[in-house]
Amino acid sequence: MITSDRIDLLDERGIGMGARLAVKGVSKHYGGVHALQGVSLEVAAGEVLGLVGDNGAGKSTLLKILSGAIAPSEGEIVLDGEAVSFATPHAAKEAGIATVYQDLALAAQRDVVSNFFLGRELISKGFLGKTMGWLDQKAMREHTVRELARLGTRIPDVRLATKELSGGQRQALAIARAAAWTSKVLLLDEPTSALGVEQQAQVLELIRRVKAEGIAVIFISHQMQDVMAVCDRVVVLRLGKVAKTLGSAELTSENLIGYITGAKIADLVDPGSEGGR
Ligand SMILES: Nc1ncnc2c1ncn2[C@@H]1O[C@H](COP(=O)(O)OP(=O)(O)O)[C@@H](O)[C@H]1O
Ligand SMILES: [Mg+2]
Repeated sequence: MITSDRIDLLDERGIGMGARLAVKGVSKHYGGVHALQGVSLEVAAGEVLGLVGDNGAGKSTLLKILSGAIAPSEGEIVLDGEAVSFATPHAAKEAGIATVYQDLALAAQRDVVSNFFLGRELISKGFLGKTMGWLDQKAMREHTVRELARLGTRIPDVRLATKELSGGQRQALAIARAAAWTSKVLLLDEPTSALGVEQQAQVLELIRRVKAEGIAVIFISHQMQDVMAVCDRVVVLRLGKVAKTLGSAELTSENLIGYITGAKIADLVDPGSEGGR
């Protein structure tokens, strides 16, 4: 017989202990606006977790909390079994959580190599486990070429200014840079929007390679095809709460769209209401 104690134990094991990163009961209030309310989720090493939801669902707010840009009003972040809190984005990076925001934060006038190392001088425990200040131009170039190749990123010449690259190449550079920095968690905010089909495919392949390195990935997207192509599980946020967690067998566009819009939730929770919204 499964007692309620036993269920609690299983819950506790599910959230926090095996997970690389766990979010436990996180809320964020802006005055009277409840951007997030009691959100819990987890992502394992080598897993890609999709995070989807309508505009205003709270996706970016959660990403900003995990990346140290804002503090939660309530709740806990657990990294490898230890509660953590990040006063700054730098602190989150130091702990092994890297973020690629929609604007990518690349320096357009600078070349691929200096973009790859941009900000790295601030990181004491970077990918090489040492500060980069001593590296000369040639070594930096070689390191960049090697890292981009390792992740299968196709950039013709690392001496090109970033503004000369295609949208897909810029996106790939931003992800490869973040992946090279991080050891634990990579957060991606809409990395495939505004890309052509072939570039989209390249970015998805890059995400698969990052996953294969054992990094936990959280992938925010509005592109359901991409979500289904690359995610192991998907959390649907709706009005600041987790509406549904979909396992790989449940990842259909019908399910995704149904839970994002709330149509499925109305079906399940209150079939007798006025036909849903
Ligand atoms: N700095 C802020 N001040 C006030 N309200 C905010 C702020 N940031 C986000 N919100 C509100 O929180 C809710 C969730 O926003 P957001 O996380 O950006 O959603 P999503 O990324 O899913 O579109 C929205 O209602 C939004 O208006
Ligand atoms: Mg957003």
